[in-house]
Amino acid sequence: MSETTELYYPNRELAKEARIKNMCEYEDLVKWAEEDYEGFWAHYAKEKLDWFELFDEEKVLDESDFPFVKWFGGGKLNVAYQCIDRHLDKRKNKAAIIWEGDRGDKRIITYLELYQEVNRFANLLKNEFGVKKGDRVVIYMPMIPEAAFAMLACARIGAIHSVVFGGFSAEALRDRIIDAEAKVVITADGAYRKDKPYMLKPVVDVALEEETPVEKVLVVERNNEEIAWVKGRDYSYNELIQTQSATCKPEVMESEDPLFLLYTSGSTGKPKGVQHNQAGYILWAQMTMEWVFDVKENDTYWCTADIGWITGHTYIVYGPLAMGATTVMFEGVPTYPDAGRPWKMVEEYRINQFYTAPTAIRVLHKMGEEEPSKYDLSSLKVLGTVGEPIDPPAWKWYYEVVGGGRCAIVDTYWQTETGGHIVSPLPFATPIKPACATLPLPGIFGEILDPQTGERVPVGEKGYMCVTKPWPSMIRGVWGDPERFKKSYFGDVKKNGKPVYFTGDGAVYDELGYITITGRTDDVINVSGHRLGTAEIEAAIKKHPNVAEVAVVGKPHEIKGESIFAYVVLKDDEGLGDEVAEMKAINAVIKSEIGNIALCDDIAFVPGLPKTRSGKIMRRILRAIAKGEPITQDTSTLEDPSVVEKIQTIVNK
Ligand code: PRX
Repeated sequence: MSETTELYYPNRELAKEARIKNMCEYEDLVKWAEEDYEGFWAHYAKEKLDWFELFDEEKVLDESDFPFVKWFGGGKLNVAYQCIDRHLDKRKNKAAIIWEGDRGDKRIITYLELYQEVNRFANLLKNEFGVKKGDRVVIYMPMIPEAAFAMLACARIGAIHSVVFGGFSAEALRDRIIDAEAKVVITADGAYRKDKPYMLKPVVDVALEEETPVEKVLVVERNNEEIAWVKGRDYSYNELIQTQSATCKPEVMESEDPLFLLYTSGSTGKPKGVQHNQAGYILWAQMTMEWVFDVKENDTYWCTADIGWITGHTYIVYGPLAMGATTVMFEGVPTYPDAGRPWKMVEEYRINQFYTAPTAIRVLHKMGEEEPSKYDLSSLKVLGTVGEPIDPPAWKWYYEVVGGGRCAIVDTYWQTETGGHIVSPLPFATPIKPACATLPLPGIFGEILDPQTGERVPVGEKGYMCVTKPWPSMIRGVWGDPERFKKSYFGDVKKNGKPVYFTGDGAVYDELGYITITGRTDDVINVSGHRLGTAEIEAAIKKHPNVAEVAVVGKPHEIKGESIFAYVVLKDDEGLGDEVAEMKAINAVIKSEIGNIALCDDIAFVPGLPKTRSGKIMRRILRAIAKGEPITQDTSTLEDPSVVEKIQTIVNK
């Protein structure tokens, strides 16, 4: 059997009970969406969501201002209501969130308790801080249940949350606060990692040292370490929450009112605030939960992402809760106290669906190849991966050792901008093959196009991964920058003369029509599933006073997928006796500008960068050098061709 036809078929027993049981059912759904696109979506919007006022059937999709589209016009609803209130009749005593702390401490929050917690939180924001519909609230939190309460509390009162990953630095946090013009920050004193406390509130303090629009800071006291309190600005959640009422009427929201912003990196400039709106987002979050993870009423589902990323938004909080599932939230790291931690948790909670990133799988594989066999993992049915390409060896270990050859693997391809999965196997329908995202989900017109012609690329030829019709959970805009929205996503590829959404990823079809994502085509790199723009890292490095020029590229990395390689030209390299010290100093600047996730593994101090005569840096050459590959490109057009050899000598020494 050739590599491309190595197929693994779905588990027949599990398929009997699945929502989508076979490929015929998948194809029927695809066909329905092709034949009656608006009817397809209107059907699901009616079936899946509880509307305060149903949308106008004439306004299912409004493309008149494309690419600014509107879905479900005239509809009124509330996302927190979808995630909580409507489950109370049937599920008030069901676990909504099962939380496990780093140190093994546990909390189970039922739907009724979630209702009360979120309402108190919503009342606090509204009554104590004066947060109103449309206000922006930044959430800078560890993985504790209050992070989910905070998101849902914002949704309940119509405030727009912007969750900032807890690993970002004070500078990065400040940039995001300013860009969103947030008036409130919700944070925690800190949390625990590997049995030790770590702190977040001091980072907020630094972020707010300079002028920002923030008026109030709400602090959840989680680890009770000592922190500074600024009078009149900082308030203890633990105190204020005591007196809040546990009922709070959900704000009536229009389908297209903004729900949240989430900043993500692009190939140029600063991170952009990706905007998602109410109805379309929550609809697809719920539908993909049901289709791709096939979570059943009594199942326990665990996604290991951080709520600071889109995966945490859609597949820890919104998707699972919208469908009334039990979602597990974990504060710690998967390798502490050892690489058996996740499998121990799977055994203990009888987890049925487990969703994680390839980097975590590679680490768990490397550090604890045999660990899964020490635990009872028989509850598992679906294993998911997300965020970066997975390599076949890691995939096979996941399939065979973790999944016991019994579970489906769903390699889910999507992005912050897509809101939910766009290409993924259906666990009990799609025959899968290692490291392949397979087929677009029904309703998603995902196609690999030739950027020149706008035609579908032939089998085996690389093209651009596009979506040719607007779908409900797609990005609605870049906060404060409509031009950037158009340019970033609708500027590169046209099909039949009409701009289509381009993901920024390359992809290839196999003979089955399956899609394999080959990685970014732009200057975005993916380190441990974290998306970073080279421009952003370069801007940070340039803040070092002795840096004249810099170019950053990604280099393949066994565990992280990619690592960061920087080529730096110093202003004064006279004293460059101690490269290690210089490297540390540069990484210190990155740490303070962005955070630890953007630290460079390699820094080469070079006399110059390979540039064309017009001054463009030839990154392809730098990528090849970083990988240790021969240079195949013509270097004669460079301003100074000799620089390539000099760089090679330095890197190879
Ligand atoms: O390059 C693709 C990669 O992650 C990018 C999106 O990153 P972000 O917006 O941070 O969202 C991550 C979680 C959805 C994509 O442009 N990517 C995501 N999923 C996959 C992937 N690459 C390969 N295979 C995947 N399954």
